[in-house]
Amino acid sequence: MNEGHFGNVGSYFGFLNSDFEFCAMDLGLKNKTAFVAASTQGLGKSVALELAQEGANVIICGRNQENLEKTKSEIENKTDRKVLALAGDLSDEIERDQIIKHTLRAYNVVDILVTNSGGPPAGKFEEFTQRDWDKTYHQLLTPVVGLINGFLPGMKKQQWGRIIAITSMAVKQPINNLILSNAVRVSIVGLIKTLANELASHNITVNNVMPGYTETERLKELIESTPSFASARAEIPLGRFAKPEEFAAAVAFLVSERASYITGISLAVDGGWMKGLF
Ligand SMILES: NC(=O)c1ccc[n+]([C@@H]2O[C@H](COP(=O)([O-])OP(=O)(O)OC[C@H]3O[C@@H](n4cnc5c(N)ncnc54)[C@H](OP(=O)(O)O)[C@@H]3O)[C@@H](O)[C@H]2O)c1
Repeated sequence: MNEGHFGNVGSYFGFLNSDFEFCAMDLGLKNKTAFVAASTQGLGKSVALELAQEGANVIICGRNQENLEKTKSEIENKTDRKVLALAGDLSDEIERDQIIKHTLRAYNVVDILVTNSGGPPAGKFEEFTQRDWDKTYHQLLTPVVGLINGFLPGMKKQQWGRIIAITSMAVKQPINNLILSNAVRVSIVGLIKTLANELASHNITVNNVMPGYTETERLKELIESTPSFASARAEIPLGRFAKPEEFAAAVAFLVSERASYITGISLAVDGGWMKGLF
């Protein structure tokens, strides 16, 4: 090894081999148990598939039973993993608690929790009532709190855990005509950042991943309801919308053993769309 100006840094840090060869990246996810919320299509489904491909046991959920069964079969056919598929509405406290109970009966502990939900409708301030705001709060924030409450005791007991919140690039740079999403999602970031501090001593990392424009049903619906979304591609330095699997790859890394020193961050997977420095 050429020690150059840095001395023998490889042996100092104890992880580089003598030829500076790169070793294959093992994410260390084999046989971990991962609960991926709102995962019958789109980003959630893609994350569940990616984690199953890495050898994790995955639990998926959604309200539509037919889509749930279809997604379960698809993931099982593409991987050698068995998928637990649970139907229910995560905004509903009773249904959410049933989903948590059922999961813990099957697996005892959830090592990895990925929170996710459907997106609120597009529109401007005066188009929404107080009811719409309350509904958005129960759609976006309440399930995150409920799921963390359900799975945290097991993570603390084993002194290992990964929590990821899927939010949106809107939490850093508001998106026109999406006031409900822009305003309510930031509360999840406050929760996640605070929890990262509270749970670090239990070896539980907590991070926020912010999708940019990604080719899913949600984006299709937004483009149909708000034509300006179609021209959003021009604002993306990479010049295209993301594929869901590109988003999932980032999540898989953050929940892995390899990301053991990363907590409290907000990671954008947006093709460079955000223009701020941080
Ligand atoms: N795609 C993008 O470009 C983009 C960008 C930024 C942020 N986001 C946000 O990221 C999240 C996921 O986006 P996506 O594009 O994957 O959305 P999507 O294609 O609409 O998929 C949403 C998934 O959530 C499930 N779901 C919705 N409400 C649920 C509930 N109450 N309980 C349980 N499951 C529920 C849906 O299944 P059921 O309908 O069967 O319940 C479906 O599996 C959304 O909040 C979206 O706004 C997306």
